[in-house]
Amino acid sequence: MTSTADLAALHQRQDAERELFELLRIPSVSADPAYGADVARAAAFLRDKLAALGFKARVDQTAGHPVVYAERQDAPGKPTVLIYGHYDVQPEAPLEEWVTPPFEPTVREGRVYARGATDDKGQAYAHVRGTELLLQAGPLPVNVKFLLEGEEEIGSPNLEAYLREHAQELKADVIVISDGSRFAPDVPTVTYGLRGLSYVEIHVQGANRDLHSGSYGGAAPNPIHALCQIISRLKDEQGRITIPGFYDGVEEPTPQEREMWAKLPHSDEAFARSIGVPALPGEAGYSTLERLWARPTLDVNGIWGGYQGEGSKTVIPAKAGAKVSMRLVPGQDPERITRLVQEYVPTLAPQGVQVEVRALHGGQPVKVDLDSPYVQAADRALRRVYGKPAAFARTGGSIPIVAAFRSLLGAPVLLVDFGLNEDAPHSPNESFALEDYHNGILTSAYLLQELGK
Ligand code: BES
Ligand code: MN
Ligand code: MN
Repeated sequence: MTSTADLAALHQRQDAERELFELLRIPSVSADPAYGADVARAAAFLRDKLAALGFKARVDQTAGHPVVYAERQDAPGKPTVLIYGHYDVQPEAPLEEWVTPPFEPTVREGRVYARGATDDKGQAYAHVRGTELLLQAGPLPVNVKFLLEGEEEIGSPNLEAYLREHAQELKADVIVISDGSRFAPDVPTVTYGLRGLSYVEIHVQGANRDLHSGSYGGAAPNPIHALCQIISRLKDEQGRITIPGFYDGVEEPTPQEREMWAKLPHSDEAFARSIGVPALPGEAGYSTLERLWARPTLDVNGIWGGYQGEGSKTVIPAKAGAKVSMRLVPGQDPERITRLVQEYVPTLAPQGVQVEVRALHGGQPVKVDLDSPYVQAADRALRRVYGKPAAFARTGGSIPIVAAFRSLLGAPVLLVDFGLNEDAPHSPNESFALEDYHNGILTSAYLLQELGK
């Protein structure tokens, strides 16, 4: 087998960067239909690249954006590794806050700035180049399949149907995903938990039209006030969510986990400083890491209603609304939680308004069994790259399709993240450290080697 030093020496850094930047130039925003052709172009780019690497590669249409599927069966009798990632990106807004344009990848101080740089084009492409690196040295040590989707950022509405339809073809021993953040810059990480999600909209309707706030104020119901009352009653003074049954079944972190997390290099002060706030409000009785990884949340993500233009307009609006996301943890079920919210929120409505809770999308929480040979292989691969053992951490984010990998494909997942929170995914000026990209490529190559042993 090719040694560590050989592979690192074979790696063509400039070429790997040039190619990633090409992909980053394609504005594959899945949420906005105006970008549909660009999403398709990103899929074709990946298919062509994988085909050039000798994969049987194709673009499969779905009811939404396409899926890229590719495979190379080089290693009979060896495990099959399915690498999942997504090539769609979040919308770039607010555009005026970007230092350089979101789809013109620009390098500053060792980081490439572009929408999708870390989430997830850079991390997914690290596996493409990691595979390429291995192929420069010989045939692949395991069978490799790529599943790259174009709808992750809108909740993967068509991927479950795709998995069902292609379950046989997608069969794998382990599913490798790099679509999150390592614990800290100097901490190589195997992620073993993702939170789930329930996402709803609250719609409040008052009068049959916007009203003069003089002629009607004092008598007419105000839907913005009603909405604020409702929202304010969804959490108590202790930061606990008041929806009846919300915490039923929530699994507490184990004593071993608590011990492990306490040893991680975390500081509340540094964390608060990194986001420019003086305090970290949250549920009483839990540490920050516990609140981020093992406790469910409820957050208003957006709110609307009434006059938002220049100057003043004396009006009582007819409608108001809010988008609310709840992050869920093992023991909670997104459909049940959505139902509880739909039952409870209307009971909070003050007189005179009508309240409707619409379900948008959801996703199951995930916990990976740390006691597995795949996790050990990842640990060995990370040691070879970083010269130190991996930390095992959970994360607060969600990848809704991951639970379906287990239920529909019956394969365990392995989450090896190359990014960092400071890459600012979903924010303006998203970036990816080039060093993390190259380390990701090496990690990918070593991981495939280790999985083949
Ligand atoms: N890559 C993220 C998930 C993630 C974020 C994992 C941070 C670990 C740490 C993914 O692309 C994402 O943004 N997921 C969405 C869910 C989806 C339904 C829009 C999320 O977590 O908000
Ligand atoms: Mn992602
Ligand atoms: Mn994302």
